[in-house]
Amino acid sequence: MIDLRSDTVTRPTPAMRDAMANAPVGDDVYGDDPTVRRLETRTAELLGKEDAVYMPTGSMTNQAAIRAHTEPGDRVVMDIGSHVVRSEGGGPAALSGVTVHPIVGERGLFTAAELRVALGVAHSGSPATLTPPATLLCLENTHNGGGGSIWPLEELDAVAAMARAAGLRRHLDGARIWNASAATGIPPARYARNFDSVSVCFSKGLGAPVGSALVGSRDFTARARRFKQLFGGGFRQAGIIAAGALFALEHHRADLAHDHEKAARLADVLAQVPAIDLAREDVETNILRFDVAGGAPRFVDACRARGVAMLVAGATSVRAVTHRDVSMEEVRRAGEVVRGVAGG
Ligand SMILES: Cc1ncc(COP(=O)(O)O)c(C=O)c1O
Repeated sequence: MIDLRSDTVTRPTPAMRDAMANAPVGDDVYGDDPTVRRLETRTAELLGKEDAVYMPTGSMTNQAAIRAHTEPGDRVVMDIGSHVVRSEGGGPAALSGVTVHPIVGERGLFTAAELRVALGVAHSGSPATLTPPATLLCLENTHNGGGGSIWPLEELDAVAAMARAAGLRRHLDGARIWNASAATGIPPARYARNFDSVSVCFSKGLGAPVGSALVGSRDFTARARRFKQLFGGGFRQAGIIAAGALFALEHHRADLAHDHEKAARLADVLAQVPAIDLAREDVETNILRFDVAGGAPRFVDACRARGVAMLVAGATSVRAVTHRDVSMEEVRRAGEVVRGVAGG
């Protein structure tokens, strides 16, 4: 099976497994796992922040961030297709008691002007107590639902500046910030500059088996540690998995450019198939989202029967993701299968 469902299907390499087997460990709940601490320190350094907290998943780092930044009843502004809105099981409402204010962005991105409209207009005639107070902005870079889209830096800065001026804290879901940096050459710390917190994942294109980190100021991460524990994320000899994450961070970041190259080659093929609707220029990193005439479920099932796995992302929408565990030759074969099934 050529598995293009997600970059999360990547498995640890023998060298990564060696690093994991030999990792010094302690009890992370007591703060004395040396490998977890090394991972946290290194991640904070790469993101230009004071500290980081290692957690089991990116959903947990996002939700701990929202909980740490808000009070129940607050309003959190984000794109309607964000992972936090669509794929974290209703976490913002269930875990933080907040209202999500969704903005209908373009491929997951929106402008400072659109944010201004969402924030509303204060007027002495309207009691400020009516509206849930907007206290947090969440952005996602790259944007999964948007097809791996990258925030242009000027737009990212402008939206963050508008949020800051309006008194909102700012959280970045940077599950694939490594892909954004690999594609643009802009360092992760620069993307992180205008955010109070950033969530990053090691278990996606970087290829580690488990884990994400939430980075921010020392005060913020101390508060986030409380919610990591509250959400059941206090893990013990977590250094074993942190070693995989650290290995991925140090050895696999540079490989992400190959994943982007593979996605570009697949996009070149798909863009030529009449029954497939794919804007070639929208494929910026390792995620392809495209529409198929005749419906996604039938198409995905037919491709799977011929050895290529992808995800149904909507009635006619399909997601394919390239990663380090598929070769360029496999991507070429996947293109042939897709073309055959779509009748191109
Ligand atoms: C953009 C984004 N944020 C957060 C997550 C959540 O990560 P996890 O699966 O580790 O909970 C994902 C997972 O795919 C994601 O794509």
